[in-house]
Amino acid sequence: MIWDTHAHLNDRQFDVDRDEVIERARQGGVTTIINIGDSEATSRQAVSLAAKYPFIYASVGVHPHEAKNCNEETWTNLSRLAQNPKVVAWGEIGLDYYRNLSPRDVQRQVFIRQLELADEMGLPVVIHDRDAHGDILQILKKHPPQAGGVFHSFSGSWEMAKELLSLGFYLSFSGPLTFKNNRKTVEVATNIPEDRFVVETDCPYLTPEPYRGKRNEPLYVNQVINKIAELKGISTEKAALLAVENSRRLFRITK
Ligand code: NI
Repeated sequence: MIWDTHAHLNDRQFDVDRDEVIERARQGGVTTIINIGDSEATSRQAVSLAAKYPFIYASVGVHPHEAKNCNEETWTNLSRLAQNPKVVAWGEIGLDYYRNLSPRDVQRQVFIRQLELADEMGLPVVIHDRDAHGDILQILKKHPPQAGGVFHSFSGSWEMAKELLSLGFYLSFSGPLTFKNNRKTVEVATNIPEDRFVVETDCPYLTPEPYRGKRNEPLYVNQVINKIAELKGISTEKAALLAVENSRRLFRITK
């Protein structure tokens, strides 16, 4: 049993075979998927898909790329969606200073606004941080999420990881952990306490080895858990069990 805590099943790349992809994941031992919203539209779709499958949960939120497209109506609509019992997190939210698809000051405003909304709704946050470690830390120290949260596809150093762990965050690992020469993430995964990591695919992106170059899908979360087991010197079953326990605690899923 293994969970994919961060999938984008509403991505257009799944339009041709979404149900088969979900079925394949189930057959391969993926018992729960958290389907992540990154805009108002995908948040709405995530909630709909969660209604269709009992083992799929949803998050709602606006990605920093989309920050420039938000207004008051966005927040009203997302807050209404967030009341659905299958919504277990607010995100993905954060800052992306790599692609800069929205102005940085707008990204920061929208990030802070959504941290406040997550607190209002009592939800943990899913954080996207790309080349923005300094500003993200500064904002989170000023606005610590009351229900906690996770840094998804964590790509920072062990130094950064230690700081986030001390602030109570979980760290999530994905395909890049399996890439050759990814020493930084390997160091983090090796050292992270057993009660603070979760795993994800971020599909259709970040495909792990040996499927690199293909579309990613929830089934391949198995590759990530295998790598964590290897690094920590524990069995795959034990690594999967730890990740599931951590995911339940983080997202408050008791089923
Ligand atoms: Ni994502």
